[in-house]
Amino acid sequence: MADIEHLRSLLKAHPDFPKKGIVFLDIFPILRDPVAFESLITHFVYHLTSHTIPQSPSKKVDVVVALDARGFLLGPVIAMRLGAAFVPVRKKGKLPGECVTATYEKEYGSNRKDSFEMQADAIQPGQNVVIIDDLIATGGSAKAAGQLVSQLGGKVIEYLFIIELLFLKGAQRLDAPVYSMVKTD
Ligand code: ADE
Repeated sequence: MADIEHLRSLLKAHPDFPKKGIVFLDIFPILRDPVAFESLITHFVYHLTSHTIPQSPSKKVDVVVALDARGFLLGPVIAMRLGAAFVPVRKKGKLPGECVTATYEKEYGSNRKDSFEMQADAIQPGQNVVIIDDLIATGGSAKAAGQLVSQLGGKVIEYLFIIELLFLKGAQRLDAPVYSMVKTD
């Protein structure tokens, strides 16, 4: 079985979690299996460094930004492999020092707003940044992360996700290419 098919088979669907009507796709079975986790990380690193992949970014990645909370399981490992900086995006009020802020709609169809922050000295103007999370749904939180990078003068060269929920069309809201390993309706 190809690596991606095996990784896809490990994703577990939980109907009606965290509320009725949502089919929650759980990535933790991949992290429970060290060989699968290694293959997931290697897949992303290869995508970001191999210029034989037509859609892979042609620029060197300076910074890997990951989203609170499941993005934090992927971002630091990928950054370390690339020799890039890791920068977290966290919910408002969690990061010390001067921060920039962006607002987004909460997940799962609620109309309520939440705010993300990034430390103001975390990215230098002109740096090439990739933004990573486990899943793209409506794209609201990824878009807010992109706005934080732009506020600091960084350039988002790609958004990366394990899973893309195609029916929510989140990728269309983002202003840089999107790479997702598994696309699903
Ligand atoms: N975040 C938003 N929608 C999700 C889903 N269906 N599964 C996992 N995480 C999500």
